This record gives sequence, structure tokens and C-alpha cells, in this order.
Amino acid sequence: MSTDPAPPVLKIAGLVKRYGPHIVIDGVDLDVVPGQVVVIVGPSGTGKSTLLRCVNGLEDIQGGSILFEEQPVLSRSRTIHAIRRRIGMIFQSFNLYPHLSALENVMLAPVKVLGEPAKEVEERARGLFRKVRLEHRAHAFPSQLSGGEQQRVAIARALAMNPHLLMFDEPTSALDPETVGDVLTVMEDLATEGRTMLVVTHEIGFARHVGHRMIFMDGGKIVEDRPPADMITDPQNARTKQFLGSILQH
Ligand SMILES: Nc1ncnc2c1ncn2[C@@H]1O[C@H](COP(=O)(O)OP(=O)(O)OP(=O)(O)O)[C@@H](O)[C@H]1O
Ligand SMILES: [Mg+2]
Repeated sequence: MSTDPAPPVLKIAGLVKRYGPHIVIDGVDLDVVPGQVVVIVGPSGTGKSTLLRCVNGLEDIQGGSILFEEQPVLSRSRTIHAIRRRIGMIFQSFNLYPHLSALENVMLAPVKVLGEPAKEVEERARGLFRKVRLEHRAHAFPSQLSGGEQQRVAIARALAMNPHLLMFDEPTSALDPETVGDVLTVMEDLATEGRTMLVVTHEIGFARHVGHRMIFMDGGKIVEDRPPADMITDPQNARTKQFLGSILQH
């Protein structure tokens, strides 16, 4: 029997992203194995969102490579749509369709993009509403939901495509403080059920509870990559220390 570890879901090597002369990602290497929860932190403008956008094939890259499940991620390739369907993306802004109910928002892509039968999708969607702890709100419209509830619908919408990787870009930073906890609870459930997750967030509690790795990015580079508890209690790099000091004060 083979004892080889599972191949990485995501393999980034020597990634370079420039906008004109401005280098935004400056030689990033990052492997993420199945079931791993990787939390990315760092000051504003250091390329965290750009990194996620590159993984999703939304950006041309100027150097290095990105492999998702061993397939190259290239923004203009014919395979990019198939890759993107296997990556669930959750943003700060939820972008739900206002004229559709929460349930219809969750069902839309599996029915329209994957062509799955509506009845099967609805059954799956109802299970997802339970998972995000919103079973009683499936028929509400986005305008009738709090920000935290809308974000949990957006998570259910991503899960409805059966993604192999979930990426979150500051999922709680636009929310009223009292709704942040419910979103984090759902994200922690996903982490503990073994989902592979790449999460840009400054919620240090989330990183500490369920993160396997914490990455500090600065100036387009990975400066530090360690188990969250180690990085939080004993940051090695002076910039990491300064940054964590500033966010832990708040
Ligand atoms: N489309 C674009 N054209 C030119 N420059 C861009 C573009 N998108 C991002 N940038 C620049 O790239 C850099 C990295 O931006 P990015 O949004 O990835 O940072 P971030 O780490 O996510 O920051 P924040 O914490 O504020 O979200 C910034 O200097 C930004 O101004
Ligand atoms: Mg960002």
C-alpha cells in the first residue's frame, strides 16, 4: 500500500503578478494539501486578494505557475471555467441576486451552469441551509436578511457547486459586529469537517481555533508561514510581530 501523502490541491511556485511596472506578487510558493485550512494575514495592499484572484484564474500572471488539482490555472485557457467551478469563492460583499430568494440564489448555478435537475439541487440546497444554520430563512429575499445571514447564504451558494477548495476574502470585515460570530461558526464547522480552505481574514480567533497554517504576507511575499498558535504567540519576523501587535490591540 502506498504511504505517499495526498498530492496538493493547490501548488503555487514562484508566482509573479505585476500591474504594469508595479510588482504585487513577488515570487510566492505555496502548497495546500487536502483538508488544510490556511489563514492569510498581512497589511493592506500586500497582494492577498490578488493571490486569491490568481488562483481563481481571474488574473494573467507574469511568472511562475499555479496548479489546481494538477492542472495549470491559466486565465485564458479553455480549462479555466472547469477549474473555477471547483473553487468556491466567498467575498466581503455577498453579491446575492436581490430578485431571487435565498434558496433560488443557492440553486441557480448548479441548475443553470451544471445542468443538474432542480429537484435534486433543491434537496441538496436544503441540506446546505441547515449546514449554514439558516433553514428557517430559505425563502427570504436578500433585503430581508442581515449581512451575516446573507454571507451564510453566499457560503451555501459556494458549497452548492461541491467545490474542492474554498477561498474566503475577508468574509466578515463588512459585517456588523453582532453577526460576525455566526459566520465564523459556520466557517469553523467547514474547517472541522475537513474542507480545504484558503482564508484571508484578520479574525485571529478563527486562525487559532481551526487554522493549520498562518501565512503573513508583506510586499507581495510570504514572510512567515507557521502554525497559527506559534505565529501568534511568538512571531519570528519583526514585521509579523508589528502587524500582529497592531491587529491584536483592536
Ligand atoms: N486592477 C489593478 N490594477 C492596478 N493595481 C492593482 C489592481 N488590483 C490591485 N492592485 C494593486 O495591487 C496591490 C495589491 O492589492 P490587493 O488588493 O491584492 O491587496 P490586499 O492585500 O488584498 O489589500 P487589502 O487588505 O486592502 O484588501 C495594491 O497595491 C493595489 O493597489
Ligand atoms: Mg484584499
